[in-house]
Amino acid sequence: MNPVIVALDVDSGARALQLADALHGSVGAFKVGSRLFTSEGPDLVTRLVDRGERVFLDLKFHDIPNTVAQAVEAAVATGAWMVNVHASGGVPMMQAAVRAGRDAAAKLGRPSPLVIAVTVLTSMDAPTLASVGVTRALDAQVETLATMARDAGMDGVVASPLETAAIRAACGPGFVIVTPGIRGASAGVSKDDQHRTMTPADAVKAGASYLVVGRPIIGAPDPKAAADAIAADALAALGTNA
Ligand code: C5P
Repeated sequence: MNPVIVALDVDSGARALQLADALHGSVGAFKVGSRLFTSEGPDLVTRLVDRGERVFLDLKFHDIPNTVAQAVEAAVATGAWMVNVHASGGVPMMQAAVRAGRDAAAKLGRPSPLVIAVTVLTSMDAPTLASVGVTRALDAQVETLATMARDAGMDGVVASPLETAAIRAACGPGFVIVTPGIRGASAGVSKDDQHRTMTPADAVKAGASYLVVGRPIIGAPDPKAAADAIAADALAALGTNA
């Protein structure tokens, strides 16, 4: 499928649906994050799904296993295609999330959602990590949490472009890696506030399964043209036009 997931980082459901209309057929999925979800609710997700779109519900659940399982079940009811939790919530929490996704989807006769993990937020640096008690190196922490997620049965992780190759090597070919921080080449020159970036082609070559792209598409004068160019770059690097 088209590996581009567009981050709908906008402040209203109306604007999100407008972008979804403009980008229909040009991207693989839409990401709804905590801001849009908090203001617009599950109805927006369902409306996107009803239009035939895939939705990555990026709410990064982190709670006791029972609560996370119930949240994943609620996410499946919206029709979300992909959901995420924090790997630092631990193996029992991740296992509960995966099980809840599978069971809820089976009850509704739908495919199981992809349940993926956030390893270390890219806003965390070594001193911030140390201040919450994690003293091992940041890249080792990312790899440890990614491996733990895989062993807990999770479908994949969200990873910065610079972490992608190491995670692909550690977790194998079937593991989903969702990579934000896409800039350069067809994704434009402005890095905005992203410090560690890669072009769409380089991210795919490093092992990304999906690319999360926000501003280079939603802030472009012609979002569809921007999305088409980014998808073409990524697909060319994959050696496919599928
Ligand atoms: O506009 P831009 O392409 O930078 O948007 C990237 C999207 O990916 C945003 O929704 C951002 O919150 C998200 N993201 C990120 N870095 C992470 C995890 C998520 O940029 N490590």
